[in-house]
Amino acid sequence: MKKILFVTSEAHPLIKTGGLADVSGSLPKALAELEQDIRLIVPKYQALNTHGEDIRYVCSLRIDNRNINILETRLPDSKVTVWLVDYPAYFNFPGNPYVDEEGSPWPNNAERFALFCRVAVEVAMDRINQHWKPDIVHCNDWQSGLVPALLSLEFGPPATVFTIHNMAYQGLFPIAAATALNLPGQLVHPEGLEFHNMLSFIKGGLVYSDHITTVSPTYAMEIQTPDFGYGLEGLLAYRKEILSGILNGIDTDQWNPETDPLIARNYKSVSLLEKQYNKSELQRRMELPVNDHIPLFGVIGRLVEQKGIDMILDCLPDMVSMPMQFVLLGSGDKGFENKLKNFSHLYPDKIAVTLGYNESLAHLIEAGADVFLMPSRFEPCGLNQMYSQRYGTIPIVRKTGGLADTVVDSLPHTLTDSTATGIVFNEASASALMEAIKRTLILYHNHEAWKKMQVNGMQKDFSWQQSARHYLDLYQNL
Ligand code: ADP
Ligand code: GLC
Repeated sequence: MKKILFVTSEAHPLIKTGGLADVSGSLPKALAELEQDIRLIVPKYQALNTHGEDIRYVCSLRIDNRNINILETRLPDSKVTVWLVDYPAYFNFPGNPYVDEEGSPWPNNAERFALFCRVAVEVAMDRINQHWKPDIVHCNDWQSGLVPALLSLEFGPPATVFTIHNMAYQGLFPIAAATALNLPGQLVHPEGLEFHNMLSFIKGGLVYSDHITTVSPTYAMEIQTPDFGYGLEGLLAYRKEILSGILNGIDTDQWNPETDPLIARNYKSVSLLEKQYNKSELQRRMELPVNDHIPLFGVIGRLVEQKGIDMILDCLPDMVSMPMQFVLLGSGDKGFENKLKNFSHLYPDKIAVTLGYNESLAHLIEAGADVFLMPSRFEPCGLNQMYSQRYGTIPIVRKTGGLADTVVDSLPHTLTDSTATGIVFNEASASALMEAIKRTLILYHNHEAWKKMQVNGMQKDFSWQQSARHYLDLYQNL
């Protein structure tokens, strides 16, 4: 049995902004089921919701003249221990963990997450005297990037794994921050935390960890190229022997159309007709005409360039001239939000847009839509395309990262051998997306092929079982 400290800046259902939370909330549970002693460490944000689990005081520690408390709770519905880093001046304020209402990063993010990393190091070295020293410290994304760097200076540190969920977010700050943060000089140079005269948190993970993973095999290859590496492709290619891609799983209890309490009617692959109740409910809730015969397209996600929202916006004028409806749930870039809202005002019978974060609506869209659009420019893994397949909702995806690894394009031979689960297109352009949409509409009217794709997707195994084993093998080999 391994002792694992899982360092993450978000974990569902405590706090979530995106897929990192889904992974941090479900992979540790899968590892605990494999009899591993895994504990999470997460900042105690004001918006953190323990869903009724108790919080108890563990200990206090002092770092750079600051008094920090460590509190303990559990991941709801599990036995997994969660340690909360309680430093109110940095974490106890309302809103998103990383950005303000306008989407700009909080001005003190470097200080906030450097402190989080420092506390994780104290815990990893058991300087908080809990008689629990991990064998492995598993860090995720830039917010935890300083942990492997700082641990590399310790005597007898645990082994470190750093998982890249998204290379586009690197935690870059003016180099002067290194001094302000009291970072040891041995770490601050171009082969260390420095990146083009900036301080890079993610480099802490990429340079100093014992193993790097990312969340799909295709993305593991892509980030070694200039298009996806953001200047770090050389470093990643240099470390390719210790870099691997392990596909994310999904929480198959939470995302299960047979039992999901957040949808209008439960269904399974042998009772697919029931899915239409969810479609009607979704149409009603989004104030669209209730009509079972019109194909309903759904989108859920952060409204950022990564997700290809600009391509969708470019397609909407053509889409509204077709028999279809479109529902979108998301928040992010204000420019995208305004353009989408304008479309929904112009075409209230075809387009419905809900801005903000809404978990139950996300479930209803997965269950009620016929088609799920995910034309990402890049996608380290992506979870919604897997949720869609499990809900019999056909994903349209661009062939990149985890989308390429999890969706099988519907072609004559993949329809025949029952592997087709969606529509896959190549080029990152509105015209290529539009072609994919037209191809989808033709298939939609071929009831036999459509149902086959739905059933193929619903029968696929997206659970964590296999991937959690890959992580365990990795821990055991370190
Ligand atoms: P990313 O992590 O890049 O945002 P993923 O596909 O990995 O993309 O995960 C996104 C997760 O966040 C999914 O669980 C998705 O349902 C959820 N999500 C994104 N935006 C919203 C929203 N506005 N309301 C509810 N859930 C959302
Ligand atoms: C990131 C990626 C997304 C991935 C998620 C969880 O936010 O953008 O593709 O699914 O992390 O690993």
